[in-house]
Amino acid sequence: LEEEVRFGPRRRLESSHELGQKLELPSKSTPPTQVAFQKPYQLVSFSYTPQRELVFNDSALRFWVEPPRNADLNYRYAHWIKRKEERGRLDGLLKAAIHARCDETRSRARTICWRGVLCKILIAPYEERDKWELNVMRLGDTIYLEEHATDQALAQKENMNEHQRKQTYYGYSFESWCTDVRPRGHDQQPRWGGDVDTNVQWCSVVKTKIGQHRLLIGGEVDCVRGRYTEQPDTFVELKTSMTIRPGNGWDEAKFEKKLLKFYFQSFLLGVPEIVVGFRTPQGRLQTVQTFKTLEIPRMVRGKPSEWNPGVCLSWGDNFISQVIEWASKLTCTLERAQVGRISFEPGVGMRFNMLSEAEIEEVRDGEDRIGFLPTWFVEHCLA
Ligand code: A3P
Ligand code: MG
Ligand code: MG
Repeated sequence: LEEEVRFGPRRRLESSHELGQKLELPSKSTPPTQVAFQKPYQLVSFSYTPQRELVFNDSALRFWVEPPRNADLNYRYAHWIKRKEERGRLDGLLKAAIHARCDETRSRARTICWRGVLCKILIAPYEERDKWELNVMRLGDTIYLEEHATDQALAQKENMNEHQRKQTYYGYSFESWCTDVRPRGHDQQPRWGGDVDTNVQWCSVVKTKIGQHRLLIGGEVDCVRGRYTEQPDTFVELKTSMTIRPGNGWDEAKFEKKLLKFYFQSFLLGVPEIVVGFRTPQGRLQTVQTFKTLEIPRMVRGKPSEWNPGVCLSWGDNFISQVIEWASKLTCTLERAQVGRISFEPGVGMRFNMLSEAEIEEVRDGEDRIGFLPTWFVEHCLA
C-alpha cells in the first residue's frame, strides 16, 4: 500500500512506452519564424586536470599558434593518453552552476545542459541518420537535460577499431600542432604543442537566450587567439576535415553539411572563429582555413546541401517550450525523482515518456544520485 501511495498508480510506471507524446519536426515547406538568439555571456570557466579533476582556473586554457605546413597528424600517436569514455553526466556543469558567479543565473535559467546536447537538438531538423535520446528532470522551474547513453553505445565508443582511433587522434593532434600554453611570437618556429591527453579540457559556461528561454550551457573551447578576455570574443574552435578534391561536388556537399555542426557548436558558446585543418586520408595536414562563424550560413545559402540556421532556432524555441510543458509533470524530492525520456527519430521528431522506477535505477547506475542529478546538487537546489 505504501508503495502505491508513494509511487502513484502502477500502470503509469511499468511501461515507458505507453502513449508517448510527440513533437513533429518542422515541415520543409513552412518558413521558420524569426527567433532571437542572445549573444552568449561567459559566467565562469574551468579546467579539467590530467587527473580529470575539475578546477576553477584556466590551467587548461590554450593559445592559438601557427601550425607547421605539412604537419603530420600521426605524430606521437603512441603517446596519446586517452580519457576513458564516460556517460555525458552533467556533474561538471552543475559544479559550475552553483559557483558563486553562476548561482543566480542558474536559478533563473529555464534549461541547463551541455552545449553538445543543445547542438544536437537544434540540428535535429537536418539529421538524417542518427537516433538519440535524452533524459530530462525538473527542479523548480528549471529543466536539466543529459544525453542518454546506453551501455552498448558506451562500449562501442570504448572499443573503437584502430582506424577509427587514428582518425579521432588526427583531430586532437591538430589541436596540439595549433596551440600552446602561452601565445607565441611570430618569429618563433612552429613546433609540437605537447602530447595529447584527452583528460585535459578547458570549458566555458555561458548564459544565453533562445527566444524567451533563458539557458545556461557549458562546453569545451579549444583555444583563444591572442589574449583571453574572459568573454568568448577571442575563442577559436579547431576542426579537421578531409581535403576537398577540386571540382568534386560530392566532397563539397559533404563539407557543407559538416559546416552545420561546426556552426552550431561554435555559435552556441559565442565562438567567433573556426579554423579547419584540411588533411589527407593518411593524416598529412595540407591547408588551414579560417571561417568566421557568423558568415557560414551565407556560404551555404543556395547550395545543393543548403541549410538555414533560422529553421534550427525556431525549432529549438518550440522544442524547449514543449519540453517545459512535458517536464511540468515531473517531480523531484530528496527521496525520489521522476525522470523523462526524450527520443529523437530522424525525419520524424521527438517523443516524450516517463521512465519507470526500474528505468530510473538504470539511469542512476548505482551512483549517489537522485534520478541522474548528483545528490549534492539536488540538496543545494532544494535547500
Ligand atoms: P575534429 O574536430 O577535428 O573532428 P572538437 O572538435 O569538438 O573540439 O573535438 C576534437 C576532436 O575530438 C575531434 O576532432 C575528433 O577527433 C574527436 N571527437 C569529437 N567528437 C567526437 C565524436 N562524437 N566521435 C569521435 N570523435 C570525436
Ligand atoms: Mg574541442
Ligand atoms: Mg575542435
